[in-house]
Parts: sequence; structure tokens; C-alpha cells
Amino acid sequence: MHNDCERIMLTAEQIRSRVKEVAQTVDALYQDKRPLAVGILKGSILFYVDFVRELTCPVELDFMAVSSYGSGTVSSGKLRIKKDLDSDVKGRDVIIIEDIIDSGFTLANLKALLLERGARSVLIVTLLNKEGRREYEIAPDFNCFDIENEFVIGYGLDYDERYRNLPYIGILKREIYEGK
Ligand code: PRP
Repeated sequence: MHNDCERIMLTAEQIRSRVKEVAQTVDALYQDKRPLAVGILKGSILFYVDFVRELTCPVELDFMAVSSYGSGTVSSGKLRIKKDLDSDVKGRDVIIIEDIIDSGFTLANLKALLLERGARSVLIVTLLNKEGRREYEIAPDFNCFDIENEFVIGYGLDYDERYRNLPYIGILKREIYEGK
């Protein structure tokens, strides 16, 4: 698995330290609130766990799985929900925790959906931001790392469902995805 990496982009230590820093900043904003931390499966799972571990506010945990299928068409702005939240977000302060923002399709639609359902506020926290790929008008409120358009794997991110368990973020060797 490690051999499939061209190089390590972010070490486990770099991730740990930055995630802690961002989580503590976000935590300070929610001291007198009871936010709902919504993890977007599956890519956010490692980030999510490390992020919520740092919170001291009375946070509740929930998850959604969505599909960004169809994101190529700007007009087809509907999100496919594969697993919905258990919680009612009406009146809640929601923190969306996502691994990566790319075109912005997923987060633009998800934020609109949660606000439509009556969330009082929706804050977006991302691990990685590919600013150069944006097609939808949406930006994370807090982001850990800005990256270029590289094929990144590890720390939750996959290629064909593999590599999610790597403790670091690496760049996948071109031959792995081009050889298929
Ligand atoms: C990835 C990622 C975001 C989305 C970002 O999910 O986790 O949800 O794509 O892309 P966008 O900004 O262009 O919408 P993916 O569909 O690969 O599912 P996964 O999290 O289960 O890997």
C-alpha cells in the first residue's frame, strides 16, 4: 500500500497538529451552543474522529452519505442521499465535517439542503481544499490544507475504496490509476 504512493504530501504529524489547531478554533465558537457535527461518509471518517476528539463544547455526532454523481452538469444540482441523518436539524447549529472540497457540488448542495430543513446555522470545515477546481460558489468556513489538483489518498481518501486507512496523505502513483 505504501509503495503505491508517489510521495507523502502531508505526514500524520502535520495532519494531527493542524487538525487540532482548527478544531480548537472552531470549539471556541460553540462553547455556549450544542452543535451537531455531521460527518460526510466515507472520506471524512478519520478527519471527523480526530476533529471531534478535540472539541470541549457539548457536541452531538451524526453522519450522512451522499453522492456527487452527476456533478458534471451544473443544472443538475440535486444531491443523492445514500444515508440520511438520524437527527432533525431544525433549529440546530450544524458543523459539516468533510474531507475534501473539489468542484464544490457536494457542499453547496448539502449546505442548501440543511438550511432548507431549518438548521439555524451551517458551518463547513474541510480537511483539504482544491480551490482551483471550484465550479460551485461555496467556500469552507475553516479549511486545514489548500492543495493543488493531485490524486490524493489516505487519511480517509480512497482510490477504488483502498488506501483510506493510511495515516498520512499521499499522492497516488500515476501507474496505479492509469494502468487500470
Ligand atoms: C468526495 C468527497 C466529497 C466530494 C467532493 O466524495 O468526500 O464528498 O467527493 O467533491 P465535490 O466538491 O466535487 O462535490 P466521494 O463521492 O468520493 O465519496 P467518499 O467520501 O465516500 O470517498
